[in-house]
Amino acid sequence: MKTFGTVPRVVLVLSLASMLMMTHAGSLDYEVARWDRIHFKPAIDKASSKQCLACHQEILQRKPLAASPAGVKASDTLAWYQTLDTYQGEQDTFHRRHLESAFAKRVMRMQCTTCHQGNDPREEAPIPPDAANVDFTLRKMVNTDTCLMCHGKFNYQIMGLPSDWHESAEMFGNNCMTCHAAFRTNRHEVNFLNADAIEAAGKESADACYGCHGGRAWYRINFPYPRHKWPNMPADIPEWAEDRPTESDPRFVTNNSQAKPSASSRKE
Ligand code: HEC
Ligand code: HEC
Ligand code: HEC
Ligand code: HEC
Ligand code: HEC
Repeated sequence: MKTFGTVPRVVLVLSLASMLMMTHAGSLDYEVARWDRIHFKPAIDKASSKQCLACHQEILQRKPLAASPAGVKASDTLAWYQTLDTYQGEQDTFHRRHLESAFAKRVMRMQCTTCHQGNDPREEAPIPPDAANVDFTLRKMVNTDTCLMCHGKFNYQIMGLPSDWHESAEMFGNNCMTCHAAFRTNRHEVNFLNADAIEAAGKESADACYGCHGGRAWYRINFPYPRHKWPNMPADIPEWAEDRPTESDPRFVTNNSQAKPSASSRKE
C-alpha cells in the first residue's frame, strides 16, 4: 500500500473499477465478459490464473470423451507420447495436462498467461493465413513458439550424439546427466518451471528430461534455446550458436508476483 501516493489517481480509479467488475463477474453480461479488458494487453500481462478462472472454470473441469464418435474407447488407446515413464493416469484434457496432472504440478508452474498473451482482436491472423503477415497472433491468442519450447525435436546433432535419443540413449547410460552434469548446467530459471524439481526428476528417469526435449515432439523442428553461460564454458562459440540469445525471454523472468520463481514454491 505504500506506493499509493505515487500511483496516478486515474490508474487507481481504473484498477478499482476492474476489481469491482471482477467481484461481480457472475452477474456480468455475456458480451461484456467476452470483451473484458483482462483478455487484452496490457491487462492480461498482470492477470493471475485465479482471475481467469473466476469466469473460466470449465478449463479445469471438462473431461475428454470416454469414446470417440466412431466408438473407439479412450481406455483402449495409447498415444506414442503416453509411453513416456512420466505419463500417469487416464487421458485428460490439454489444459489439465499442463496445469493439473501430477507431473505438470511437479515440474511446471504454468499460468494461463504463460500461453495466453492476449492481443488486439483487430490484429488477429488474417484468414486465410498469409505468409507475408507472420507477426499476427492466432485467434486463441497463443504463440506456437511457446509450445515449441517443450514440444520440439531432440537436437542430437548439436549434442554430438550419433542419432536421436531413442536410439542412442543406451550408449549414454540412459542418462542426460552423462553430459549435462557439465554442459549447459545453468538451466530452467524461468517463471513457469520448477528448476530444482526438474533436476530431481531427471535423476529418476531420463524420460523426465526427454519428454520436454523431444519425447513429445509435435514439431519437426528444434527450439533455439537461449544459451546461458555455464561454469567452465569453452570460450569458442560454435557456429550454430552464434545467433542464440544468452538469456531467457524477458517475459519469463519477470518479477510478476504470480509467476516469480521462489525457493518456497518449488518445494510444493
Ligand atoms: C469476466 C469474465 C472473464 C474473465 C475474467 C476472463 N474471461 Fe476469457 N472469456 C470470457 C467469455 C464470456 C468468453 C467468450 C466465451 C465463448 O464465446 O465461448 C471468453 C473467451 C476467452 C477465450 C476464447 C477467445 C476466442 O477468440 O475464442 C480465451 C482464450 C479466454 N477467454 C482466455 C481468458 C484468459 C487467459 C483470462 C485471464 C487472463 C480470461 N479469459 C479471463 C469471460 C472471461
Ligand atoms: C500450455 C498452454 C496453455 C495454458 C497454460 C493455458 N491455455 Fe488456454 N488454450 C491454449 C491453447 C493452445 C488453446 C486453443 C485450443 C483450441 O484451439 O481448441 C486454448 C484455449 C483456451 C480457451 C478457449 C477454448 C476452450 O478450450 O474453451 C479458453 C477459454 C482458455 N484456453 C482459457 C485458459 C485459462 C483460463 C487458462 C489458465 C487456467 C489457460 N487457458 C491456460 C493454451 C493454454
Ligand atoms: C513448459 C513446457 C510445456 C509447454 C510450454 C507446453 N507443454 Fe504441452 N506438455 C508438457 C508436458 C510436461 C506434458 C505432459 C504432462 C503429463 O504427462 O501429465 C505436455 C502434454 C501435452 C499434450 C498431451 C496432452 C494429453 O492429453 O495427453 C499436448 C497435446 C500438448 N502438451 C500440447 C501443447 C501445446 C499445443 C502447447 C502450446 C500451446 C504446449 N503443449 C506447451 C509441457 C509443455
Ligand atoms: C553426449 C553428451 C550429451 C548427452 C547424452 C545429452 N546431451 Fe544435451 N547437449 C550436449 C551438448 C554438447 C550440447 C550443446 C552444448 C553447447 O551449447 O555448446 C547439448 C545441448 C542440449 C540442449 C540445448 C539445445 C540448444 O539448442 O541449445 C538441450 C535442451 C539438451 N542438450 C537436452 C538434453 C537432454 C534432455 C538429454 C537427455 C535426453 C541430453 N541433452 C543428452 C550433450 C549431450
Ligand atoms: C517441463 C519441461 C522441461 C523439463 C522436464 C526439462 N526441460 Fe530443459 N528446458 C525446458 C525449457 C522450456 C527450456 C528453456 C528455458 C529458457 O527459456 O531459459 C529448457 C532449457 C534447457 C537447456 C538449455 C539451457 C540453457 O539455458 O542454456 C538444457 C541443456 C536443458 N533444458 C536440459 C534439460 C535436462 C538435462 C532436463 C532433465 C534434468 C530437462 N531439460 C528437463 C523445459 C524442460
